[in-house]
Amino acid sequence: MSKTIALPQSAPFAPEQIAALDQVIGAASVVQRAWLSGFLAGLDAAEGKAAAPAPAAGPKPKLLVLYATESGNAEALAAKTRQDAQKRGFAARVLDMGDADVQTLKDAGTIIAIVSTWGDGEPPQRAAPFFRALMGDAAPRLDGVKFAVLALGDSSYAQFCETGKQVDARLAALGAERVAERIDLDLDYEAGAKTWTDELLERLAPAAGSVIHVDFQKPVTSAVTKSAPFTAEITAHGKLTSERAQGETYHVELSLAGSGLAYEPGDALGIVPENDPALVAAIARAAGLGDDPALHADLSTRYDLNTLTPKLLHDFAALTGDKALAALAADDAKRAEFMAGRQLIDLLETFPHQVEGQKLTALLRPLAPRYYSIASSQKLVGEEAHLTVARVAYQSAGRERLGVSSTLMADRRRAGESLKVFVKPNPHFRVAASGPIVMIGAGTGVAPYRGFLQEIEAAGAARDTWLVFGFRNFLYDFLYQLEIQDWLKAGVLGRLDLAASRDQPEKRYVQHVLWEQRARLREKLDAGAVLYLCGDAKHMARDVDATLMRILGNGEDAVTGQAALDALVAAGRYRKDVY
Ligand SMILES: Cc1cc2nc3c(=O)[nH]c(=O)nc-3n(C[C@H](O)[C@H](O)[C@H](O)COP(=O)(O)OP(=O)(O)OC[C@H]3O[C@@H](n4cnc5c(N)ncnc54)[C@H](O)[C@@H]3O)c2cc1C
Ligand SMILES: Cc1cc2nc3c(=O)[nH]c(=O)nc-3n(C[C@H](O)[C@H](O)[C@H](O)COP(=O)(O)O)c2cc1C
Repeated sequence: MSKTIALPQSAPFAPEQIAALDQVIGAASVVQRAWLSGFLAGLDAAEGKAAAPAPAAGPKPKLLVLYATESGNAEALAAKTRQDAQKRGFAARVLDMGDADVQTLKDAGTIIAIVSTWGDGEPPQRAAPFFRALMGDAAPRLDGVKFAVLALGDSSYAQFCETGKQVDARLAALGAERVAERIDLDLDYEAGAKTWTDELLERLAPAAGSVIHVDFQKPVTSAVTKSAPFTAEITAHGKLTSERAQGETYHVELSLAGSGLAYEPGDALGIVPENDPALVAAIARAAGLGDDPALHADLSTRYDLNTLTPKLLHDFAALTGDKALAALAADDAKRAEFMAGRQLIDLLETFPHQVEGQKLTALLRPLAPRYYSIASSQKLVGEEAHLTVARVAYQSAGRERLGVSSTLMADRRRAGESLKVFVKPNPHFRVAASGPIVMIGAGTGVAPYRGFLQEIEAAGAARDTWLVFGFRNFLYDFLYQLEIQDWLKAGVLGRLDLAASRDQPEKRYVQHVLWEQRARLREKLDAGAVLYLCGDAKHMARDVDATLMRILGNGEDAVTGQAALDALVAAGRYRKDVY
C-alpha cells in the first residue's frame, strides 16, 4: 500500500528529485525501505564515503515538562513542549503532577511547569496531592534547579491563574532559579503559549551540533479542530425536564457523518457558539456602532460579549477618556461591586460612549468554545454524538442573563439546523476495562454515564455497575428515567440510588446517599472499584470529596481520610469530570 511520505523541502536534493524520491519511497513497503537504507549505508561504508560522524556531543541537558491539568489543555501543551525541546537537543521528559514526587524535583535540571487552575483558584484534582507537598514544610530545597511557569486560566475568574502563580512563587522560594517570567494565559492561550515556549527553548537550548532533526511524527489526520470545527446537523432535539422543573435540560443529537470524528464515552464535544442576535443588537446600539453587517457578524461569532474583567474596565476608560469609569476601575472594592453580576452591556449602558467598532472589539476576549460531556457511545449510536444541555438563564443586576452556548442549543437551534463541533478527548475519564464502577453525578453530570452504560450494553458483557444520581425532583427532572430504569431491569446497571434533593423537607444530595451506603462503597472499593464523579464543581464535588474522606478515613482524623483519597486518585480509581 502506498503511503504519503513528505520528504522535507530542506532535503539536500533538487525539487524534482525530492518529488521523484517521494514517489518511489512512498510506494515502497516497510521491507523495501529497510533494505534500501541498509544498502545505501553499506555501499557508502564499503566505498569509504560514509558521512563524517558528528562531533561527539556532551550529555544532553535535562528538561522536565511538568504539567497539571483537568481538561487536557496543559497536558497537550506539555506534550508539544517536550517534542520541541527534544528537537532542540534537550533530554526532555513530560510528567503529570498527578504522578510526580516532589522529592525528585531536585534532580530535574530545568523544569517547565505548565499549570492550569480549577475550582475557585485551586489546582486540578490529580495534581492536588503534589501541590500540597510542594507547598508543605517537607518540600526539598531546589538550589541548582532552573524553572519557568506557564499558567493557564480564565480571566473571568477572580483567582486568575492562581495555581500557576503559587507554583511559580514556591519554586523560587525553594531556591530554584527562575529563567523566564511566568506567563498567565487566558482561554485563547495557544498563540501566547507557542511564542513563550519557542522563545524560552531557543534561549536555553544547548549549542546546536551537526544533528539534523527529522520529524517522524505522523501528520495529524483529523482535519476537525477547535479552529476548524465540523458543521454537524442536529438530528434530534428535545426537552428532558418537565414543565414544572425549576431549570430546563435538553437532549441534543448531532450527526458526525462525514466528519471522520471519533470519540470514547467520557470525552467532551466542543461547541463553537454564537452570541444571541438580540444581545448583538443591544451592544451595537449601546456603543453607537451602526449596522455594518461585517461588524455584526464578528460580534456574533468572534467576541465574548458578556464577560467583564478588570482589564476591560481599564481599557474602556482609556479608550473613551471616561474619568468616572477610570476612577471606578482603579478602586478595587468599587470595581468588584460594579462587576458583580454585570456584563459588557451594563458597562456600555452605564458609561455610554460612541466608539468605533474595531476599537471596541480590540478590547474584547475571543468567544471561547464550550464543552459538553458526550452522552452516547459510538458502539451504539454510530456516527452520532448525544449531549445533555442545561439551559443557563438567571437574573442579575436587574436583567435576565442568558448563557451563550446553552441557549444557542436550547432556544435558537432545532433539529435540521446545525452546530459547529469538535471532539475534546478526556483520556482520564474512560470506562475502566474491568472491575466494579461507581458512577456519581448530579444533573447533567449523568451525561457521560449514559455513554458508559451504552458502551457496556453494546459490549454485552456482565459488569458490576452502580449509579448514584442526584437531581431536584423525581417527577420533574430525573433525566433519562426510562432508559436508566430499562438498564436496571436488563442488568446493565447493577444498582441505582437516587438523591432527589427537594422531595423531602431535608435536602438530600448524592453525598448523603454515599454516606448511607458507606459499607457497600467500601465493599466495592475492596473489590477494586473505580469511582467516577461528574457535574457541579463548586458544591457537589467538594461535598462528595469531604464525604469520601470521612468514609475512607474510617472515623480517623482528616489527614488519614485525605491521604486515602489522594491514594485513590493517584491509582486512577477516583476520576472526576466536574465543571
Ligand atoms: C468538561 C466539561 C463538561 C461539561 N459538560 C456539560 C454537560 O454535559 N452539560 C451541560 O449543560 N454543561 C456542561 N458543561 C458546562 C458548559 O461547558 C457550559 O459552561 C455551560 O453550558 C454554560 O455555558 P453558556 O455559554 O451557556 O453560559 P455562559 O454564557 O458561559 O455563562 C455561564 C456563566 O454565567 C454565570 N452564571 C450562570 N448561572 C448563574 C447564576 N444562576 N447566577 C449568577 N451567575 C450565573 C457564571 O459566571 C457562569 O460561568 C461542561 C463543562 C466542562 C468544562
Ligand atoms: C469549573 C472550572 C473552574 C475554573 N476555575 C478557574 C479559576 O479559578 N481560575 C482560573 O484562572 N481559571 C479557571 N478555569 C479555567 C481553566 O484553568 C482553563 O480552562 C484552562 O485552560 C484549563 O486547562 P486544563 O485543560 O489543562 O485543565 C476554570 C475552568 C473551569 C471549567
